[in-house]
Amino acid sequence: LALTLRPTERVVEQARVIKDDGEVATLREAARRLTPVALSAFEMVRAGTTERAVAARIDAAIREAGFERPSFDTIVASGPNAALPHYRAGDRVLERGDVVVLDFGGVLDGYCSDLTRTVAVAPPSAEAHRVHQAVREAQQAAIDAVRPGIATTDVDRAARRVLDAHGLGEAFGHGTGHGLGLDVHEEPRVTRPRADVAPVPLEPGMVFTIEPGAYLPGWGGVRIEDDVLVTARGCEVLTSVPYALIPD
Ligand code: GLY
Ligand code: MN
Ligand code: MN
Repeated sequence: LALTLRPTERVVEQARVIKDDGEVATLREAARRLTPVALSAFEMVRAGTTERAVAARIDAAIREAGFERPSFDTIVASGPNAALPHYRAGDRVLERGDVVVLDFGGVLDGYCSDLTRTVAVAPPSAEAHRVHQAVREAQQAAIDAVRPGIATTDVDRAARRVLDAHGLGEAFGHGTGHGLGLDVHEEPRVTRPRADVAPVPLEPGMVFTIEPGAYLPGWGGVRIEDDVLVTARGCEVLTSVPYALIPD
């Protein structure tokens, strides 16, 4: 028996990109369980509370929903802090008119979910409405672009084009999304064309986030994120949480 060793690249990563039926069922259930978490977060967004108190409530709700743990450190970024895409949560006290980015997820049977909603402490400014509407429109354009055969870079472009049209192209400084699975950030990367990331044609069974944002230093920011599954004809949005800037 003669064995020959051949160098390979990214074999495990490639196998993980397409989820099997069992994995899809788990990811769908994980996404579904984020709804009550989001609703309890919305209730906490009031003038006078701190980012950290909202984050603590989210983390408790993640466990109440049956998740093993958060998928990553919960983000509650209020007012000017919302302009920092990688901010986590601090001692800032929420004020009237703040825009607040809530970004969290839970791990269920080893699989990660990831959701962002941006809500306001009433009354939101006209600028808050404008930026929120633009990001939501960009997100929907990207969701509508998802179907087998379309490249990851085309999905990114769909979002970017909308933000460009709203004069917010420069404010969108990160990729549109990332694969979800055993890791919260895995393949495929949904980005603009980059030298280090080859565009990937979408295939049924891929699960990734769609999370455009617009960040205006000193003012704040808006990000909206859902998890999608590529299906034979388009996509299924796995997360289902209202988008309103002022939740009911
Ligand atoms: N905060 C992690 C993510 O949305 O990718
Ligand atoms: Mn997220
Ligand atoms: Mn994400």
